Amino acid sequence: MSTQNKTDYKMLNEQLKALAKSEPYFIPLLSNASSLINENLDDLNWAGFYLMRDGALVLGPFQGKVACIKIALGKGVCGTAAKEDKTLVVDNVHEFPGHIACDCASNSEIVVPLHKDGKVIGVLDIDSPSLNRFSDEDKAGLEEFASILETALIFE
Ligand code: SME
Repeated sequence: MSTQNKTDYKMLNEQLKALAKSEPYFIPLLSNASSLINENLDDLNWAGFYLMRDGALVLGPFQGKVACIKIALGKGVCGTAAKEDKTLVVDNVHEFPGHIACDCASNSEIVVPLHKDGKVIGVLDIDSPSLNRFSDEDKAGLEEFASILETALIFE
């Protein structure tokens, strides 16, 4: 793992709560949420969201290079996390069967499903150019981040 500062998830999640309080509509909130992650986690090359639409994941607000637009349920890390409804931490994406390489710089990844009314409505997807980038502490902090979004987000 490359040297990186630890993220202060308490502060990050307080900032997200403040943003969610001021504007819960999904476009501004997810846009600023992707920026917060990009600014507060070291060693990333992509951070953003895919949202469920007509049974597939479609690209939402993000920071990073142009990415694939549509991911079928069960495909890639994102589609697998959405289908299995669980957070996936992938230490080496090249060893993940069916990984979708949008940015060839990605080496590790974390994907956290987002829910509304008990259903998966999308995923938070974060990629790093380093192998083994995401620790248990990152997983816990990002699951808390996702749960703040779940409580706040509105789509209409
Ligand atoms: N790596 C992802 C695809 C999305 S990009 O990383 C933005 C995957 O396999 O699900």
